[in-house]
Amino acid sequence: MQAFVDRRARLLKRMAHGIAVIPTAPERVRNRDSHHPYRHDSYFYYLSGFTEPDACLVLTAGEKPQTLLFCREKNPDREVWDGFRHGPDAAREMFRFDAAWPISDLDEKLAELLAGQPVLHYALGHDAGWDQRIAAALNRVRANARDGARAPAAIHDIRVTLDEMRLIKDEHEIADMRRAAAISAAAHRRAMRAAAPGRAEYEIEAELTHEFRRSGAQAPAYAPIVAGGANACVLHYAANSQPLRDGDLLLIDAGCEVDSYAADITRTFPVNGRFTPAQRDVYQLVLAAQRAAIAEIAPGKAWDAAHEAAVRALAQGMRDLKLLDGSVDGIIESGAYRRFYMHRTGHWLGLDVHDAGEYKRDGVWRPLAPGMTLTVEPGCYIRAADDVPPALWNIGVRIEDDALVTPSGCEILTEAAPKSVDAIEDWMVRAGAK
Ligand code: GLY
Ligand code: MN
Ligand code: MN
Repeated sequence: MQAFVDRRARLLKRMAHGIAVIPTAPERVRNRDSHHPYRHDSYFYYLSGFTEPDACLVLTAGEKPQTLLFCREKNPDREVWDGFRHGPDAAREMFRFDAAWPISDLDEKLAELLAGQPVLHYALGHDAGWDQRIAAALNRVRANARDGARAPAAIHDIRVTLDEMRLIKDEHEIADMRRAAAISAAAHRRAMRAAAPGRAEYEIEAELTHEFRRSGAQAPAYAPIVAGGANACVLHYAANSQPLRDGDLLLIDAGCEVDSYAADITRTFPVNGRFTPAQRDVYQLVLAAQRAAIAEIAPGKAWDAAHEAAVRALAQGMRDLKLLDGSVDGIIESGAYRRFYMHRTGHWLGLDVHDAGEYKRDGVWRPLAPGMTLTVEPGCYIRAADDVPPALWNIGVRIEDDALVTPSGCEILTEAAPKSVDAIEDWMVRAGAK
């Protein structure tokens, strides 16, 4: 729990004064009376470690800072149906708050707590239901103006401060991310072993999610993409419904969530265990682009340097493969490469798969710093077209790893998923001839 206590203390220091209100996510109906699997809010979890729904964190800064949790009361009847609830007393003790109250008291208490505070720190616009609740509490304070009550004069977006904090991972977070990365890499190894002509994309998805759950991961961090053949050229392919064909590549983008932290890995490999010459050419190009990008991940390097390096390598390769003509500089300047590489080379990774944090500050790509975690994911997606060599039609390759910026460069957290052509072919052959 110490990591969460420390983060609250750091936030209170940065706030300097005022009150922060950080609710968790609401439960969402899937259909009629069934709910989507519950996932707490990432900001709320970051500061509390508390995973029950119907909860809200209130922090007051100043000379005597206070940390308060509102949560569901114990309810033996409901607990028979839905399971354990901490209740305020146990939650206060276990999660180390100064005080905890029933969530049913929140509206009344909030008006008391807001009165006289100069600033409210809150993520306005994040959730319409909570916005209304906060506005109502502010109006209750204003309604008491003649008694001398005063509502905060300013609302500051708390995400500005929290996003900066979340950008640099502490040891506790890095440990969770290492576990998520290790389990996800094992799932990719399992998927490579399971793939074979005639099996279906959804069967391979089942292998991935089986490995996640048997290893203790709570859920996939995002909907897995299991895309055989031409489906790999659909960037957010979600159906995972087609049979795998001999001679095709299979692109898998899948990662799990462990104790709220995500991994995000893509591997592309031949369904039958052997790359064709054309597939190998495209694969080696994307791998070279990824290596060039990884070489640009180090403290002080600009966020965009890895993307620029990947684009340069890809542009050169697209020219070599006769996908594009003209000079490399010309291909980059005109953006012609975007026909085959239309996304960026990475994103922050953490509690959210596309994690919190600015990429530019004052119009300038921010420099990397130790403790930042990001993905490196170049790709090349070649659809069938008259002006494309037919041998390359419907080849889609992406290679994605998760990097931790270290004092001397970066560490790849997802190395355990086979990546070179030889490593993939060896692993698949060892897994049994296809
Ligand atoms: N899996 C989502 C992404 O790669 O960004
Ligand atoms: Mn990604
Ligand atoms: Mn991904």
